[in-house]
Amino acid sequence: MLSIVPTKLGEAKDVDTEILRAGMIAELDAINLYEQMAAVAKDPAIKERLLDIAKEEKVHMGEFQALLLQRDPEQAKCLEEGRKEVVGAKARQGGSKKAGS
Ligand SMILES: [Fe+2]
Repeated sequence: MLSIVPTKLGEAKDVDTEILRAGMIAELDAINLYEQMAAVAKDPAIKERLLDIAKEEKVHMGEFQALLLQRDPEQAKCLEEGRKEVVGAKARQGGSKKAGS
């Protein structure tokens, strides 16, 4: 995990928001770990279990994100802006491919 989990809770401006973001980081880290281990596991049963657990971590990530978006309207707005930028870029790429082909 790259971020420092809040250890000075009394000093945090909004400790609950920091906790939710730290939770999201931990879940994303766990997803990567389980998927990386699944990729190298030799036993198919272990591989399958690891991928199933990774999927559960994605649900946990969604739970933290949902709570964060309730607490931080700016984050919710920026998430939507990011989504629109990606969709717009994809549409432009598709449009230029059609024009170029
Ligand atoms: Fe989790």
